[in-house]
Amino acid sequence: MTQVKAPRGTQDMLPADAHKWETIETTLLNLAKCYGYSELRTPVFESTELFERGVGDATDVVQKEMYTFEDKGGRSITLRPEGTAGAVRAAVEHSLLNDALPLKLCYLTSCYRYEKPQAGRLREFHQFGVECFGTGEPIADAQLIVFARRLFDCFSLHDIRLEINSIGCPQCRKTYHAALREYFNAHKAALCRTCNERLEKNPMRILDCKSPECQKIAAGAPSILDYLCEDCAAHFERVKTYLDSSDIPYTVNPRIVRGLDYYTKTVFEFVCDDIGAQGTVLGGGRYDGLVEELGGKPLPALGFAMGLERLLLLLEAKGFCFAPPAKPAVYFCTLGEKARALALSLCDELQLDGYGAELDLMGRSLKAQMKYANKLGALFTVVIGDDDIAGGILNVKNMQSGEVTQAPLDAFSETFENLVLQQTILEDFGVEDNG
Ligand code: HAM
Repeated sequence: MTQVKAPRGTQDMLPADAHKWETIETTLLNLAKCYGYSELRTPVFESTELFERGVGDATDVVQKEMYTFEDKGGRSITLRPEGTAGAVRAAVEHSLLNDALPLKLCYLTSCYRYEKPQAGRLREFHQFGVECFGTGEPIADAQLIVFARRLFDCFSLHDIRLEINSIGCPQCRKTYHAALREYFNAHKAALCRTCNERLEKNPMRILDCKSPECQKIAAGAPSILDYLCEDCAAHFERVKTYLDSSDIPYTVNPRIVRGLDYYTKTVFEFVCDDIGAQGTVLGGGRYDGLVEELGGKPLPALGFAMGLERLLLLLEAKGFCFAPPAKPAVYFCTLGEKARALALSLCDELQLDGYGAELDLMGRSLKAQMKYANKLGALFTVVIGDDDIAGGILNVKNMQSGEVTQAPLDAFSETFENLVLQQTILEDFGVEDNG
């Protein structure tokens, strides 16, 4: 039989890397909690209309990259290409926006985009995202950016670049779109077919086109910053002032337009040069019109998402030291049937108390069991034979020091827990215990 392989652009998360993902996810969620964000989980698939209306039907994501299919009931369904639209839908659908604002939500999700796979670009990838609803104040933009910066700081990634821009509101974008149309119309023949369509629908999307020819033309296009209305310009100034007073370094890059249509005013990206062409690890901004667009009341909002595969690539490129995976506290080696039954219940007791405990499940010889306990790196081993059971005492061996402690069977867990505590104290104080 031929082997079935994973689909192109997907990655298995293997057990050897599980501790890395766990560290990443716990660190992100813990900091999000400190900033007042609560976790939201939404379905992996939504009605296609949600993304067409939310993300925008002139975007690459909607035009080219969505995994869309008809379900058995004839509905058009799409695997989520990003997390914001689903978060807005859920907040509106469950009236979460009627409570005291701001509403702060965060999520860890898988996303799906039919893109050409390369390092850092997958068809199934994972995002950590946050969304803050209900405030139009520039201080909210600043705090969101500070928060994003602190996420990188948690992993000692201090030199990742922050680039910010303002893409204005629909009002100032009207004049900007007119200027863009005038500029791109003069280069119409050289633009790709999709950009020719974009010229009418949403000329700002041309700035985001991946075709090298379009990119060359876009480099000479007018800058949005020259077209901001008074309100948007003042908003951007205040965001920058807050960032300055928080000592957050940034550069203003007027070419950042983001690949999704819902953004207004502030947009930002955290970019690095260490992981190849796909260097944007985090992107986000304000989206003041989206809640209303998706059927809610008019309510400003903002957020960002970080690509977890890109974060991991960057951490590995920087040689980040992940804490090693936890080792079992104890391994029970057994001789005979009675010993097995006893080990089964002792393991159960310790596991319920939160200790990693293992016993032989393979019917191995005593020698092979000891070898396996060593391979697992168990901190303690206990060999149980008929004599030990008859005598009511078990010998617990500290695998690091070689020291053996006698533990009465009727108070085994208490004795064992004390031993682990002593060992932890020795390790915490950096004392080498050599017996
Ligand atoms: P986005 O820029 O499309 O924004 O994606 C955010 C991050 O997801 C990117 O910076 C990147 O790290 C990662 N990412 C995107 N596509 C891929 C891919 N094909 N493979 C691997 N990683 C990828 C959004 O999704 C917005 N929803 C962010 C947001 C939240 N804006 C406001 N709130």
